[in-house]
Amino acid sequence: MTERLTSSHADITRAAAILRAQGLIAFPTETVYGLGADARDGRAVARIYAAKGRPSFNPLIVHVADAQRARALGKWSDAAQALADAFWPGPLSLVLPLRKDAGLSDLVTAGLQSVAIRVPAGDLAQDLLRAFDGPIAAPSANPSGRISPTTAAHVLAGLEGRIDAILDGGACGVGLESTIIGLTGAVPTLLRAGGVPREAIEAQLGFALAHPESSMISAPGQLASHYAPNARMRLDAKDWREGELTLGFGQMECDLNLSESADLLEAAANLFGHLHLLDAMDGAQIAVAPIPQTGLGAAINDRLGRAAAPR
Ligand code: TXA
Ligand code: MG
Repeated sequence: MTERLTSSHADITRAAAILRAQGLIAFPTETVYGLGADARDGRAVARIYAAKGRPSFNPLIVHVADAQRARALGKWSDAAQALADAFWPGPLSLVLPLRKDAGLSDLVTAGLQSVAIRVPAGDLAQDLLRAFDGPIAAPSANPSGRISPTTAAHVLAGLEGRIDAILDGGACGVGLESTIIGLTGAVPTLLRAGGVPREAIEAQLGFALAHPESSMISAPGQLASHYAPNARMRLDAKDWREGELTLGFGQMECDLNLSESADLLEAAANLFGHLHLLDAMDGAQIAVAPIPQTGLGAAINDRLGRAAAPR
């Protein structure tokens, strides 16, 4: 069952409690409805992918109440300050270098060393962020491959019964996703066109935005800068070979186990963290036990396949 919640104080408090209990809340922002989870909790974030049926783990936008909270997550710069001053709260996301002490689940950043952050302008989004008092990871609240929802009815048509609750705030004003600006390289880069026009951003910065290598970023799973370990990867390993670092699933002997109880939610939450840990052990090869291709297993296998791809 998906609870219907309103903008009342009691319902906002209820929504924040659901987030604290690793639940999923759809909530309106000024752009589109987001599907929110506690961005610090891997299992909660894994549920987002399960509910959306996303075929791969793409990094998610982290929503915070104000720029001060954003600064605790990403490394700040003059450009970040200028854009935050001009456009936050509002339909702009900034991709910043991830701070080591950010405390985010690495499922949110898909194991990258950067994080997309946004301060939404919608009243209900702000009320929820302040009641929860923490970062909320939220992609658009639609099943994977379907169009983004701008009303509560759109959300329920796609996700009824798959999410804990929806905060109904009527129709979204902007109706288009946020503009995403990359601030991790030498020049600010337009990664996705959206609610804030590029001209407005360039006027604020006083120079032109760079273009990404290609416009790959909006297509799920197409992100160029996927996390890839230094070690070679051997997937679907039914036994372990001499000298390998081993990543297990289910009851077995191994260096690290994605989930001893073969729970795909737990495996998803552990995936990037475990790969990072194994990679830090400096072995030549990482072997990974077979992961079932059902439910979240599809996204886990997709991401393992990318990590194993020749480069
Ligand atoms: O308006 C919006 O931005 C909505 C509302 C809910 O806030 N959210 C949204 O999220 O559109 P989503 O997950 O549908 O799109 C997130 C986009 C993806 O294209 C993803 O690749 C990109 O943000 N992204 C997230 N983190 C990134 C990072 N560290 N580097 C590059 N791109 C990133
Ligand atoms: Mg989307």
